[in-house]
Amino acid sequence: MADVASGSIGANGAGSAAPGERVPELSLKGISKSFGAVQALKDVDFEVYAGEVVGLVGDNGAGKSTLIKTISGVNIPDSGEIYVAGHRVNISTPADAVHHGIETVYQDLALCDNLDVVANLFLGREDTSVRLGPLSPMTEIEMERRTVEVLRQLDVKIPSVRSVVASLSGGQRQSIAVPKTILRNARVVQLDEPTAALGVAQTKQVLNLIRRLREQGLGVVVISHNLADVFEVVDRVIVMRLGRRIATFDVHATTPEQVVAAITGAEFADVAENGDASEVAQQA
Ligand SMILES: Nc1ncnc2c1ncn2[C@@H]1O[C@H](COP(=O)(O)OP(=O)(O)O)[C@@H](O)[C@H]1O
Ligand SMILES: [Mg+2]
Repeated sequence: MADVASGSIGANGAGSAAPGERVPELSLKGISKSFGAVQALKDVDFEVYAGEVVGLVGDNGAGKSTLIKTISGVNIPDSGEIYVAGHRVNISTPADAVHHGIETVYQDLALCDNLDVVANLFLGREDTSVRLGPLSPMTEIEMERRTVEVLRQLDVKIPSVRSVVASLSGGQRQSIAVPKTILRNARVVQLDEPTAALGVAQTKQVLNLIRRLREQGLGVVVISHNLADVFEVVDRVIVMRLGRRIATFDVHATTPEQVVAAITGAEFADVAENGDASEVAQQA
């Protein structure tokens, strides 16, 4: 992309914010992306605010994963713009996204089973290894201290920070992948189906974790098929269908049935009768 990291929402027409209006932590304008003949994203706008959890829902193939991969630098959009805290940014690689404070937890979690929790949390921290060289006992102690601190901050309970990841349950593993993002100073955390493989108790633990992220002031994006989870934890629901963003709901002012109708396309009948009452105005 020819985009350069410059400009701000206020400085050009795209999404210009009125004085006093909150600027999203992350926003996308007119993002399109095709894979050969398949147009996975069609002119999609998206926004998440600091201290907000957005649920991204839609049927299989709706474009949810493509959208978050665009935000995380895995997919490069054919057109459109990305803004972080009001500033136009260029995200062409996963490293660009991380540089801008955008962290993504995929379903496979990318953890190393044979390493313990501390090692997993600090894996890939080039800054640590470059600056400090081979890990000294002090560094190891410092990493352990930071690990205990961040797990406490997020209310994550695991047997020991020295447990090998292979010995942890699915929920505990998910609970390790998320604090890792905090240690990298994330401002936005995206989670693709974080509870898909989890039982009831483990799901509760992960939903709690998402609440903690919101309390820390992060913007959180959660893809989920489970509307019960969505309704329990998110503030706004964005519905995608066939590559388009087709509805936005405030969860406190809507029902799961309305969201299902939007996902399946059944809401068009309602729109014809009731106007677009089911679609809420963007709330800052
Ligand atoms: N890397 C890819 N190559 C080709 N087609 C892709 C690729 N990624 C996604 N698609 C297609 O884009 C569409 C949207 O997919 P996806 O974003 O994974 O949807 P969702 O996550 O909502 O199920 C689908 O038709 C899918 O087959
Ligand atoms: Mg997907």
